[in-house]
Amino acid sequence: MAGVAFEDVRKSFGTFVALQSFDLKVEDGEFMSLLGPSGCGKTTALRMLAGLEQPTAGTIRIGDRVVNGVPPAKRDIAMVFQSYALYPHMTVAQNIAYPLRKRGVPRAERPPKVKRAAELLQLEELLGRKPRQLSGGQQQRVALGRALVREPQVFLLDEPLSNLDAKLRAHMRAELIELHQRIGGTMVYVTHDQLEAMTMSTRIAVMNGGILQQVATPSEIYHRPKNLFVAGFIGTPAMTLIEGDMVTEGGETQVRAGGLRLRLADGHCARMPSDGTGISLGVRPEDITIGAGDQNGKIRVVEPTGHESIVMIECEDAMLTARIAGDIRLGFGEAVSFDLRADRVHVFDRGTGERLNADREDVGAVRVSAVAGGVE
Ligand SMILES: Nc1ncnc2c1ncn2[C@@H]1O[C@H](COP(=O)(O)OP(=O)(O)OP(=O)(O)O)[C@@H](O)[C@H]1O
Ligand SMILES: [Mg+2]
Repeated sequence: MAGVAFEDVRKSFGTFVALQSFDLKVEDGEFMSLLGPSGCGKTTALRMLAGLEQPTAGTIRIGDRVVNGVPPAKRDIAMVFQSYALYPHMTVAQNIAYPLRKRGVPRAERPPKVKRAAELLQLEELLGRKPRQLSGGQQQRVALGRALVREPQVFLLDEPLSNLDAKLRAHMRAELIELHQRIGGTMVYVTHDQLEAMTMSTRIAVMNGGILQQVATPSEIYHRPKNLFVAGFIGTPAMTLIEGDMVTEGGETQVRAGGLRLRLADGHCARMPSDGTGISLGVRPEDITIGAGDQNGKIRVVEPTGHESIVMIECEDAMLTARIAGDIRLGFGEAVSFDLRADRVHVFDRGTGERLNADREDVGAVRVSAVAGGVE
């Protein structure tokens, strides 16, 4: 097995720049997801790793080897595409064995390799079937088997679950996590589904517009988003982001945004905004409690999902999203009081979008109450 690295890689198609200043190191044995909206350059990055596209500039390494210019077949990688076309006239066993046949692996050596891949993917019972006799999830596993049988240094997967229904996706997510633990291979996994990235990855590379935004563990990305894009992209429902100001008066730092006015603990932010005051305040839905507290608003939407309710609260000119356990009985337009965890709020520079929080462990633990009253 081997790690991979992109070093200052750029990819242009004519005048269009699909990827720029792309620096990413994937450690040996890591499960790295490339996550971002449609068109951000995920597939382009993966195709360059596979050798199906050449970078316009920069270096790509697999293990210690620079692979720029090395043809796909000589890169020791296996790629599973979104549309995993199995050969319909071949059995599962023949489909899995196909890459071995194509590479001239001696006939006698093929069955044990196919058997091992089938065992790993729990396909032993299905080896004699044709693809049309399989469910979508089983077909997906055969496509993975075809990649696995080659025992490559690196697995590249491009949205391999996107053709499956919700239940099968959840099942395959669990299977992929288990598979990665069993074979311990380096995996680079492309998805625009944050749930997939959050649940499976050791680290996630969040991308937008051909530019890498943050590379970190799922927990770090969720709790300490590096900028406004990551903050808004990760989390369902999304973090509420409200433009406002940060002011220091009499040694006390306050944030004023929408109808909110919060006192921040000393050291909550590491830096002041670049223009002196302009910030965007970020509040995760689970950091709001309804029913008591010194903030006031009006209920706009309640979406019960059974085990929890998503509630939209209008607070002056801002709309906040809250996540409340269980069902709540609140009507449209009803006045509510609520509280929010001032110690957990995210503060971003309104101009640059960069995170300003100090993210010191001790600051996160300090409970600071919200300041009563609205913005003057
Ligand atoms: N061969 C090409 N010629 C011109 N433009 C291209 C080519 N391939 C990709 N692009 C452009 O590069 C950008 C990145 O494409 P890419 O396929 O990497 O996106 P993606 O992040 O995989 O998106 P999706 O989630 O929709 O698959 C897009 O704007 C796309 O239109
Ligand atoms: Mg793509």
